[in-house]
Formats: sequence, C-alpha cells, structure tokens
Amino acid sequence: MEKTGIIGWISPSNIAIVKYWGKFKHQIPMNPSLSFTLDSSFTKTILQYKQGSGKIQFLYEGQTKPEFEDKVIRFIKKLNLSFLEEFDLIIDSENTFPHSAGIASSASSMSALTLCITEMEQRVVGEIDNFKQLASLRARIGSGSACRSIFSRASVWGQIIQFNNTSNLYAVDWSDKLHQEFRMVDDWIFLVNQSQKKISSSLGHELMNEHPYRYARIDQANKNILELIKALEIGDWGKFILICEEEALSLHALMMSSNPGYCLLEPESLRIINMIRDFREQTGLPVCFTIDAGPNIHMLFPTLIRNSVQSWLDTYFQDYIKENKIITDHIGDGPSKILSIL
Ligand code: PMV
Repeated sequence: MEKTGIIGWISPSNIAIVKYWGKFKHQIPMNPSLSFTLDSSFTKTILQYKQGSGKIQFLYEGQTKPEFEDKVIRFIKKLNLSFLEEFDLIIDSENTFPHSAGIASSASSMSALTLCITEMEQRVVGEIDNFKQLASLRARIGSGSACRSIFSRASVWGQIIQFNNTSNLYAVDWSDKLHQEFRMVDDWIFLVNQSQKKISSSLGHELMNEHPYRYARIDQANKNILELIKALEIGDWGKFILICEEEALSLHALMMSSNPGYCLLEPESLRIINMIRDFREQTGLPVCFTIDAGPNIHMLFPTLIRNSVQSWLDTYFQDYIKENKIITDHIGDGPSKILSIL
C-alpha cells in the first residue's frame, strides 16, 4: 500500500446545451442533459496524502478558504470511502476563471477533486475497472453537472430510454456521436457580472419540486435532448441553434416563474443576446447563445468562423476586450493528469 504521494489533475468546466434543472434525492436528475466539455476554463487540483487519521485540509490558491473547505469535506464524507480514514489529505485547488459566476466552477472543481481521490484509491487500494465511470458517478455527488466534465467534447447525463447506455447515476461519453461539424466548437463567454450569484443552483433545483411547470419542463427536456442528439449526429447547426437558445431561455424562465421567483439575467445579458441574434440574422453565420445559472452569456459557433466573430467583437465589444471580460474557450479533450508522485 502506498503510504504517501501527490496526485494532480486538471478538469474543465462544461456548458450544458440541454440543461439539468431539478433533482430528486441523491442527485438524481429530473431530466437528462447534454453538455460540451470546455478546454481553458478548468480547475487544477493537487492532492497530497500521507498516513494519518482522516484529516482533510483544503486550500484555494494556496490559502485557506473555510467556506470551500466545508463543502469539500462534506462531499468527501458523503463518498464514504473507508480507505481515506487512514490518511491525511491536503488539497490545493485553483481555477483559471472566476468561481461562483455561473460558469460551473463546481463542475470543474468537483470533477478535478474526484479524479484525484479516485486515482488515490487506485494507488492505495488497487486497480479500478471503469475509472471514468466511477469518477463520474462520484463527481455527481459533489455537483450534478460535474459528472459530465469527466469526458471529452460532449457528455450525456440522465436516462434516455432510447439509449440504453445512459444513466441517472453517471454521465456517458458522447464525443463519438458528434458530426464533423460539431467537433470544433468555440464558446466565448461574456463576463457580464463576475460577483457571486444571489441564488445558488441548489436552491434553484429545489424550487423545481413545487414548480407549476415542472412536468412540462421534464417533457420539454426529454424532447429537446432527442432532437439535439439527432442535430449533433447529422451536423445540423440550424436545429442546434433553435434547441440551444430555447433551453437557455427556458432555464431562466423557470427561475423567474419559481415561487419565489428570481431573475439572474441583467439588462446587459439581454443586450448581448439581442446582438448575437442580430449578428446571426445579418450574416447568416451559425452563432448562438446559451446561459448557465448566472448573467454571463456563452456564445457558441463553429471554430471555422472564428475570424468573423473576432471582427464583430472588435467592432462592438471593445470595452469587453479592453477590460478582459471575454473568455475565449472551445470544446476540449477533457481532464488530464498533471502530476503523479509516489
Ligand atoms: O451542477 P449544479 O447543481 O451546479 O447545477 C447546474 C445546473 C445548470 O448549470 C444551470 C445546468 C447544467 O446542466 O449544467
């Protein structure tokens, strides 16, 4: 048994096209979701372990951060892994993008941490059969959307009866099912507001329990995911755009029509949405938007038209460029191991 060691993983955030919104006990989603895995928006986590008595210390960018530490400890305890009782852990984590701003930092951080812990288990306990599936299942416990970050390019989480490899317990790799048209996609994120959001996703999910549109939403997501899968398979950007924007606006409409209702969008979010739509109408280029649980706008388009989008941005968004308020990301290859020291 290895008594001491250091493990490091980087794991990206992901952006859902069909959104997970609402859950049952044990993080079972009310509806299936499909996301693209990002590339440069990631968390880097280093886990140091040595023989001990189950102490866990968490650092964010090398500094203590009690609110994050509590969340991490609660998550690790929930995993209920007996081998951890014989070790002390120091976990050091950092993000390449602002956390708590609706860019799914919990997806990247929980998946990076889970990959470190699952690899530690592999080292100290023994070989794990389906490493990624187990990591995805565990990451789900930390944050639902985190289970989708384990895979490259595209993942599906949640049972779809037509696809018997799908599951509510973990995400599955959807990258092989992407048409050439969707293998290189950019996601440029307009940072409208980077401060901590007022209403957490956890509360948002909870409000779906008594939501007047709950069943309509489940139906809508189930229908949209089948159509999205088809569009991704045949390379249909037109259909993709319709579903992607419908999902984004529906997510925020569900928040507004919850009880109590709330709105995370800002006037500036709506201005950018309209500008993206105008740009599409005027040029015929396949650009569209999606939105996570926050005011920031994700602009999606094929990497092939990057130069046209850059010229549009140079014309209309100089202030964003100057203030570094645009993250230029794209679909990526998923998590990678960065460190492994015994
Ligand atoms: O993983 P959570 O509990 O933070 O929920 C994320 C929900 C959305 O980001 C709004 C949608 C999604 O599917 O990622």
